[in-house]
Amino acid sequence: KESGLGAAPYLHLFQDFWCPTHFIQGMNNFMKHFHSKDNDVFVASFPKSGTTWLKALAFVIVNHHRFSSFDHHPLLSSNPHQLVFFPESILSHDLHDQILSLSNMSEPRLLGTHLPFPSLPESITKSNCKIIYIFRNPFDIFVSAWEFFTNVKVSSSSELTFEEAFEKYCNGITAFGPWWSHMLGYWEKSITRPHKVLFLKYEDLKEDTVFHVKRIAEFLNSPITQGGESNTVIENIIKLCRFETMKNLEVNKSGYIYNIAEKKHFFRKGEVGDWINYFSPSMIEKLSKTVEEKLGGSGLSFKIHS
Ligand code: A3P
Repeated sequence: KESGLGAAPYLHLFQDFWCPTHFIQGMNNFMKHFHSKDNDVFVASFPKSGTTWLKALAFVIVNHHRFSSFDHHPLLSSNPHQLVFFPESILSHDLHDQILSLSNMSEPRLLGTHLPFPSLPESITKSNCKIIYIFRNPFDIFVSAWEFFTNVKVSSSSELTFEEAFEKYCNGITAFGPWWSHMLGYWEKSITRPHKVLFLKYEDLKEDTVFHVKRIAEFLNSPITQGGESNTVIENIIKLCRFETMKNLEVNKSGYIYNIAEKKHFFRKGEVGDWINYFSPSMIEKLSKTVEEKLGGSGLSFKIHS
């Protein structure tokens, strides 16, 4: 098997992180030309951490007043990445038009980003806009990324085996890596600026989705309908966004996102702990050691089993 995970020339060290080549121009434009509004909402993540799920949830929560019917919801006919896109990926072409369309988006604007916190445009870090970050345990991220990058178009130029990709991953060489600095950057901000950054964990979201949906809504000052009705609305939000629903929607079965990845590859297993089926005992030892070295003492803990 081959993988684009961590493969040169697919990745370039850009500022302090490993940037996929096809993103570099868009990143530069995003950093230079993007103007944040105080009511913007960003979904930030390290790739394969549950971005698609969080985009879906955030879209429904932010827009729950606009689309009261769950039977005709935009998520049933559009992939979450089409509803909540990454400015860094669209700003690589037709810059003027894209900037204009971004500034004309209906408010609050809901956008995504894979940029590490220190690389975000200053207008995002300085404005009052809000960021919801999704974290996932580094074991499952690797496996999810491996499966994903073996399928996307950019992987065709690479020749890494599972073991080679794993070594690079443990050295931080992976799209938007090192993963530990990415996670720690947002983790620290969620502690020092709790009104700015909400830090969610994929594993927690799976375990108690209701609680975390309420947390997201509160963080965004967008409480779901008050009173008895709110529980039904929350249940409907969760039902619409859950893995089985999303995976089985016709719109998510075929077609490409960003001309790179097929939509179906964003929905694989959606489980906690699948890494156990992939790692040798020495890999488990190595990644556990890396995690201890890089995240130990940060207060950032996580589950690796369901
Ligand atoms: P697996 O490969 O482990 O199945 P990202 O969206 O950041 O690319 O992350 C993709 C991972 O999130 C994949 O994990 C995918 O299956 C999972 N995922 C996608 N949609 C999901 C959902 N609605 N609920 C839970 N997990 C989801």
